[in-house]
Amino acid sequence: LKHFLSIEGLSKRLLTEILDTAESFAGISEHQVKKVPLLRGKTIVNLFFENSTRTRTTFELAATRLSADVLNMNIATSATSKGESLLDTIRNLEAMHVDMFVVRHALSGAAHFIAQHTAPHISVINAGDGQHAHPTQAMLDMFTIRQHKKQFAGLKVAIVGDILHSRVARSQILALNTLGVAEVRVIAPKTLLPAHVCSMGVIPLHDMEEGLSDVDVVIMLRLQKERMNSAFLPSESEFFKCYGLTETKLQQAKPDAIVMHPGPINRGVEIASSVADGPQSVILEQVSNGIAVRMAVMTMTLGHHGGAA
Ligand code: CP
Repeated sequence: LKHFLSIEGLSKRLLTEILDTAESFAGISEHQVKKVPLLRGKTIVNLFFENSTRTRTTFELAATRLSADVLNMNIATSATSKGESLLDTIRNLEAMHVDMFVVRHALSGAAHFIAQHTAPHISVINAGDGQHAHPTQAMLDMFTIRQHKKQFAGLKVAIVGDILHSRVARSQILALNTLGVAEVRVIAPKTLLPAHVCSMGVIPLHDMEEGLSDVDVVIMLRLQKERMNSAFLPSESEFFKCYGLTETKLQQAKPDAIVMHPGPINRGVEIASSVADGPQSVILEQVSNGIAVRMAVMTMTLGHHGGAA
């Protein structure tokens, strides 16, 4: 695993190896030993051209706990604002002898582009590119599902909300199907489903009651307003009425169903506070699990070059 750019094309065996490796790091990332020396001497650059709270900080914590050095590029104050191209920015960072780029960008394909053009010894991890992919988010979600449900076989999973603009949903659908769940349902108005939804390996539904019936996992998504033409922006109150997750709607799911959300959450738009903070919510566990999963992906990619000590 040289780069980690997408879930597409990855085998069930490799995804399971990532989850197992993350499990071995979970104790380190939570308490007990705070650091291991696996990436000592390695330099990791967080290159975030889009805002982030969870992904950037958990990548930084993951790298720190692996004893790597981390550079957080401040894009707003970097020379990109003076017209420097993405490729020139990469070339200059390469000249500082770095080992890994963790990239978030508003353009789909940006991480692939960097991976194609960077020096052969450098690994690239996609931390979210446009509407395309957010593979480490999908893997921390799979880790959280496995923690609670023990296995993927037989699970019914519903993903609700703005599927059309969601890179998280695309990566989750690929991971869930590769790991062998029974059913992935996507629940959204027609305007928020991709035109090719029928070829995505999911069951598209428009009604929450029908869609949530008997599911084991409910994944809520926010409206990605930054990727929408404002003319097509649904009214938040209408959206909440039809697709917002309330305690009443959640009763359609299995009694032990878990509620997930990649964040940031918009309370009262796609999820009621009583559900987000309720007993079935594992939203903050997802955030914690992000550290162990990112530690796993970093060691497995840099290990490809013989980099892990
Ligand atoms: N889930 C997620 O990508 O959150 P951030 O935008 O805060 O990184």
